[in-house]
Amino acid sequence: MIGRSEEYDKMFRLEGQLWWYRSLHERVATALQHRFGRRRDMAILDAGCGTGGLLNFLRQRGYTNLRGIDGSADAAAFCHERGFFVTIVNLTTLTDFEPTAQYDAIICNDVFCYFTETDLPPLLTSLAHRLKPDGILVSNNNAFNIFRGEHDLAVGIVRRFVLADFEQVLPKNGLHIQSATYWSFILSPLILIMRQWQQLQLNFGWRRREEAQSDVYLPKSWLNETLYQLVKIEQRFLRRTPFGSSLFMIIDSLGSAGEIHTVVNK
Ligand SMILES: C[S@@+](CC[C@H](N)C(=O)[O-])C[C@H]1O[C@@H](n2cnc3c(N)ncnc32)[C@H](O)[C@@H]1O
Repeated sequence: MIGRSEEYDKMFRLEGQLWWYRSLHERVATALQHRFGRRRDMAILDAGCGTGGLLNFLRQRGYTNLRGIDGSADAAAFCHERGFFVTIVNLTTLTDFEPTAQYDAIICNDVFCYFTETDLPPLLTSLAHRLKPDGILVSNNNAFNIFRGEHDLAVGIVRRFVLADFEQVLPKNGLHIQSATYWSFILSPLILIMRQWQQLQLNFGWRRREEAQSDVYLPKSWLNETLYQLVKIEQRFLRRTPFGSSLFMIIDSLGSAGEIHTVVNK
């Protein structure tokens, strides 16, 4: 994704409105609230913060101690435009970035998909070192290969995940999954049909790979609002679902007093 300026431009313009980002940002805010209650001054790092949409959302909710890092100069420039001090950091060298800094919460949304099976464990180790003993890592990730589609090609996604991928590697880094759910379960049949149709078109050469478009576009406002409300209902009444194109996890550092429980139905 790094270097594809047009994708950062779209993200910057649309992430405040698009149903998917709004739902994700609300999920993150709920996770923070569950752990920290009304506190708003804890140190939060958005690792791979993109164009700063989540930082902006959290600032609007009153969070005061926000830090962002990203490997893209485009992303950092958009964050600066929003008034955030964001440093350009390649997460593969996270250990070199402000080596003594630790955070109460680290958010790392849709970044692990750019790391290979070999590169991901060292990143998780670095993130674990940056968490305070009772800190949390909140992470959303692309899920299930069956959902591969044009979006993956357009933004250069290397891999998709299932929960088992993390269950194996996180404990080795002193991290454990407090809760996890795939989402959006309700919309998954629709998303699946769209992605499978895209795969078919690409495989049969009816559509060229170079023409692949990301999912970052704003549908008609009634549709955008309907999708947002459907996901909101899911979030409220189906807290844990077994299937969806994304996997949302709240992860405790080992020092945490929280009970270890993995909650996705497998
Ligand atoms: C799909 S975007 C997600 C951005 C943001 N977390 C969000 O939820 O909107 C992935 C982000 O990861 C960043 N990224 C990818 N590989 C990276 C790396 N090795 N080091 C730092 N950032 C990286 C990209 O620049 C991009 O901003």
